[in-house]
Amino acid sequence: MVLRRLGESRLGRDGARWLRELNERHAWSHNDYFHSWILANLPDGRAKALDMGCGRGALARILASHFDHVVAADADADMRRIAEITSADVNNVSITGRQLDSWADDSIDLVTMVAVLHHLDIDDALSHIERILTPSGRVLVVGLAPPRSVRDLMWDAVSIVTNPLIGFVHRPWPSPVTAPPPPFPVKDPVLSFDEIGGMVENRLPGAKMRHRIGFRHTIEWTKPDV
Ligand SMILES: C[S@@+](CC[C@H](N)C(=O)[O-])C[C@H]1O[C@@H](n2cnc3c(N)ncnc32)[C@H](O)[C@@H]1O
Repeated sequence: MVLRRLGESRLGRDGARWLRELNERHAWSHNDYFHSWILANLPDGRAKALDMGCGRGALARILASHFDHVVAADADADMRRIAEITSADVNNVSITGRQLDSWADDSIDLVTMVAVLHHLDIDDALSHIERILTPSGRVLVVGLAPPRSVRDLMWDAVSIVTNPLIGFVHRPWPSPVTAPPPPFPVKDPVLSFDEIGGMVENRLPGAKMRHRIGFRHTIEWTKPDV
C-alpha cells in the first residue's frame, strides 16, 4: 500500500523516470550476465549441449569451446537466422527449431535456458528435460517470475538498487545512442517463483532454485546417475 502510494506520487514518478534513464544510459544484459554462472557449473560430460531459446546465439557460441557439439534451438526464424551468423565461424554449433519433446532419452549432457522457461509449458518442459538429460547431465535455467511474495518483492528491491551499480561497472561511461539489436520475442512471465518451485521439486527432485539479482532466478539440477 505504502509502495503503491509512493509510486503514484510525483516524487515516485520522477524517481522512476530518473532511474529508467540512468539504467538506459548504463544498460547491461540481465541474461548475458549469467553466462559466467553457466560456465562455472558445466557438467563433467561434454558431448552435447542444448541451448533452448538461443535467441541471437551468444551462449551457444560460448559453449562451443566446452562441448563436442552444441545445438542452439529457437522457435523464431529471425532469431535462428541471427544465430547462424553469430556461429558462422564455429563448426560445432547447429541451429534448429526442434522442441524439447523431439530429443531422445538420455541424449543431452547440458540443457540451458536463459529467459526462456516462461515461454514454454513449464511442467511439460521440465519433464522432457528430466527425460533427455544423460545420467549426470545437468540443466541450468535462468528464469523470470512476477513478484508475489514478500521475499520476491525484497529481491526485486535489491535488483532495483544493484541494477544501476552493475550498469556503472559494466559501462562506466554512458552508452552512445546506437541502433538497438533486433528485439527478442518476449513474453511476460505468469507463474510465481513459488509456483515454479513446486513444479521443479516435483519433476527435478533436489534441484537448487534461487532468487538472483537482475530480476532473475536460477534453477540447477543434475540428473542422478543410478
Ligand atoms: C527473451 S528471449 C532469450 C534469448 C536468449 N536465451 C538470451 O538469453 O539472449 C526468449 C527466446 O525464447 C525463444 N522461444 C520462445 N518459445 C520457444 C520455444 N517453444 N522453443 C524454442 N525457443 C522459444 C524466443 O524466440 C526467444 O528467442
